[in-house]
Amino acid sequence: MDLVVFIMLLLFLFLLPMIFIFKDKKHGDRLPPGSLGLPVIGHSRGLLKALKADRVDEWFQERIAKHGPIWKSGLFGYPTAVLHGPSANKFIYTCDGNILTNTQPPSISRILGTKNIMELSGHGHKRVRAALVSFLKLEVLKQYVAKVDEEIQHHLQTHWHGKHEAEVQPLIKTLTFNVICSLLFGIERGPKREKLLPLFQDMIEGVLAIPINLPFTQFNRGIVARKRLVPMLVDLIRVKREALEKGDSHKDLITSLISIRDDDSSMTMSDEEIIDNIIVVMVAGYDTTSVLVTFLVRLLANNTFVYSNILKEQEEIANSKSSGEALTWEDLTKMKYTWRVASEIMRIYPPVTLSFRRAKQDIEYGGFIIPEGWQVLLSASMTHMDSDIFQKPTMFDPTRFEKTAPSTPPFSYVAFGAGPRMCPGIELAKMETLAMIHRLVTQFTWELVSKEESFKRIPMPEFDHGLLVRITPIKKNSASYKA
Ligand code: HEM
Repeated sequence: MDLVVFIMLLLFLFLLPMIFIFKDKKHGDRLPPGSLGLPVIGHSRGLLKALKADRVDEWFQERIAKHGPIWKSGLFGYPTAVLHGPSANKFIYTCDGNILTNTQPPSISRILGTKNIMELSGHGHKRVRAALVSFLKLEVLKQYVAKVDEEIQHHLQTHWHGKHEAEVQPLIKTLTFNVICSLLFGIERGPKREKLLPLFQDMIEGVLAIPINLPFTQFNRGIVARKRLVPMLVDLIRVKREALEKGDSHKDLITSLISIRDDDSSMTMSDEEIIDNIIVVMVAGYDTTSVLVTFLVRLLANNTFVYSNILKEQEEIANSKSSGEALTWEDLTKMKYTWRVASEIMRIYPPVTLSFRRAKQDIEYGGFIIPEGWQVLLSASMTHMDSDIFQKPTMFDPTRFEKTAPSTPPFSYVAFGAGPRMCPGIELAKMETLAMIHRLVTQFTWELVSKEESFKRIPMPEFDHGLLVRITPIKKNSASYKA
């Protein structure tokens, strides 16, 4: 059956460009400059190659130089209008969902579910987003710094202390997974969590894989993982609902979503919606934060100036606390330099580098027509590496984020997106990153095993050997946490 679907999909992909080429005649020379490239393939191979070689910003800059701030290309099976500049970012990020939709390819919603926030627009999107933000907002998250800190300390005790080497990226991924499990799902350490991890990993790989549903493909493993995960989440929701009815006051994202009521006291979100959205939160929060922390660890091994400034900031906080005392929200607010460094890392290496939308109708933009059905693409790398916006853009310089630094136009720094779809996980990502860096720099020193270890964007950056580091514990702090 799935083979038939696959063949139909191939035929559809070959016919699609014909439909668009026919329709394009209607718009004549009002289409953006550039070419759509070969049918179906378009320029996807070139972009994928640039992503893999970490040359995506050059790929975009070359095309901006050739065509200007708007051009057309064929990408991932669709004619695509690529838009560059702060006002283009503003247009894409704030555009009405009836003009530009955020709909994901059907292969992605097959794994993430059709009711996940990324599929929704208008009122439906607002409703689910408000429910997620009711737990992810700063005022709520502030109370959980010690819980995040405890997960980090336990992780370091188990996976770093007593070891000579560490593969940073996979370890930080596991840590991020554990933080989300504890804080958002209320699943504490134990067999339940261990069962969930491989299922989530299969789903994430499935979302990023070529969507061919045949036995043993990554995409198929993702679908199977979702099928196995859903009953576990149904059960988790049932247990939490029963506990709530008995007056249990434990709070996490899931209990928060179950508790939300509409004005007429009916439940705001169905179980199906809760499931799709907790899956998407895990997928959206897992790779992104771990990529940022991995790049920070690499930078601290290579840049002694930044390392000594971060160490000073973090040691001052550590010295103000008694041994074994957990981090607090106030501690995190003092980590201003560390966050400026993290922000500069995300300028140069935005974890989410491409954002796609789809035109729901013919759109007039910048003097051109973007026809209905076309894909619209922006890349954070385009404004982040534009020398008119960030001087000497390839230079690593965290002072760009100081309060006194020259201001940049709105919508030019878009590591977390912008507008109504701006990342709702920003405060959690910040909290995790700062707490992880605090514990790492006050408990260890490290050096890269290979200075040359590179990474590929597939599309998230993946280090060739997981970013292998040689680690040495700093003795005074290593005994302060009792597992
Ligand atoms: C360094 C870490 C992170 C980065 C750089 C990041 C980046 C982004 C970006 C750029 C978008 C907007 C994409 C678009 O408009 O096309 C986004 C959306 C989203 N992010 Fe994050 N994210 C991070 C961490 C997290 C975390 C920890 C969570 C969950 C707790 C999360 C959940 C989401 C969700 C649910 C959306 C969709 C929002 C919507 O459609 O309204 N992210 N993120």
